[in-house]
Amino acid sequence: MGVHHMYEDPVPVRERPAGLIGRLVPDEPVFRLRIADALAKAEKWLQDCTNSAPDPHVVTLTGHLAAAGGKRLRPLLVLLGAEFGEPWRDGVTQAAVIAELVHISSLHHDDVMDRAETRHGVPSVHARWGERAAVFSGDWLLARAARLAADLGTEAIHLNAQTAGRLVAGQLRELTGPAPGEDPVEHYFQVTAGKTAALLSMSLGIGAVQAGAPAPYLPALTEYGEQLGVAFQIADDLLDLTSPAEVTGKDQGKDLLAGVPSLPVLLALAGKGRADRELRALLRAGPTSDAAAHRRALELFRRSPATAEAQALMRERLDLARAALGVLPDLPARRALTELCDVIAPRPV
Ligand code: IPE
Ligand code: IPE
Ligand code: MG
Ligand code: MG
Repeated sequence: MGVHHMYEDPVPVRERPAGLIGRLVPDEPVFRLRIADALAKAEKWLQDCTNSAPDPHVVTLTGHLAAAGGKRLRPLLVLLGAEFGEPWRDGVTQAAVIAELVHISSLHHDDVMDRAETRHGVPSVHARWGERAAVFSGDWLLARAARLAADLGTEAIHLNAQTAGRLVAGQLRELTGPAPGEDPVEHYFQVTAGKTAALLSMSLGIGAVQAGAPAPYLPALTEYGEQLGVAFQIADDLLDLTSPAEVTGKDQGKDLLAGVPSLPVLLALAGKGRADRELRALLRAGPTSDAAAHRRALELFRRSPATAEAQALMRERLDLARAALGVLPDLPARRALTELCDVIAPRPV
């Protein structure tokens, strides 16, 4: 062994970090391994958190989605944000756990709101245990995140509270719908900034803060997160319409079924093409449980220009995200963030 050996072969050849990081910066094996190790620690910690509930039923409910799957995008963003400071500092992994707890909490609530039966290929929490159990176990996860943030200090408490507030307000704004005379697409972007982008942005920010990254890097990282978050939501909207349940682990066209006004749906409603006209008639009839109408709507979407328009709007956001990285030093993490933009479109499920 010894130093010589370390230089010869710092990382075993069979190294294949799992998940999203495994798809980024293939020429940076040491960096990838460091991130994969930190993600594994966060994963264990996440499990410890849900296992720490005093009541075994709460353990079951709060551990359900965490165990079933998830890409762990938000913990990855925390760790990438931390790379611009001292990523080994205490508090970075804890911040990664906070981000994922808030995310899973939002999935509990979101599946109630969207009446989604399936998540990560398993029954959603409300489908299995009922709406009230899903809501309160989601609240428990949010409370657990707040406790972890309290350990980290004022800045983390602020970031966590502010983000939870933006996320919930975004979801509520989606529920309420556009005000009379408000442009539905404009409304969509406001909803999305809250329900999705806020947490992605906060993940990068809290990682950088916990690692003591230089203050001027912070706005760049959070702006990247805001833009990536909107692009990510548009990609998710498109996946709902274009990908079967075996791919996404969620029911295809579930947003359509529940009447969720996703971006491609809004664009199709405003569209002038032939497919759009028929689609409009189907959608105006309201959320449908008619399987044939649902299939037809999905087929029309594939032909509607709305899909390409939504993709173009997503790409615009990805360009803005990449541009925000310009002021950051050329570290492997910056390259990983740049490449993440390509992974997002179309993103993995
Ligand atoms: C799903 O997020 C909710 C959205 C913000 C679109 P993810 O796609 O990141 O959820 P995981 O990977 O299943 O946890
Ligand atoms: C994503 O909502 C935002 C949150 C989960 C807070 P969606 O309803 O678009 O996400 P999926 O498609 O159910 O994951
Ligand atoms: Mg939703
Ligand atoms: Mg949903």
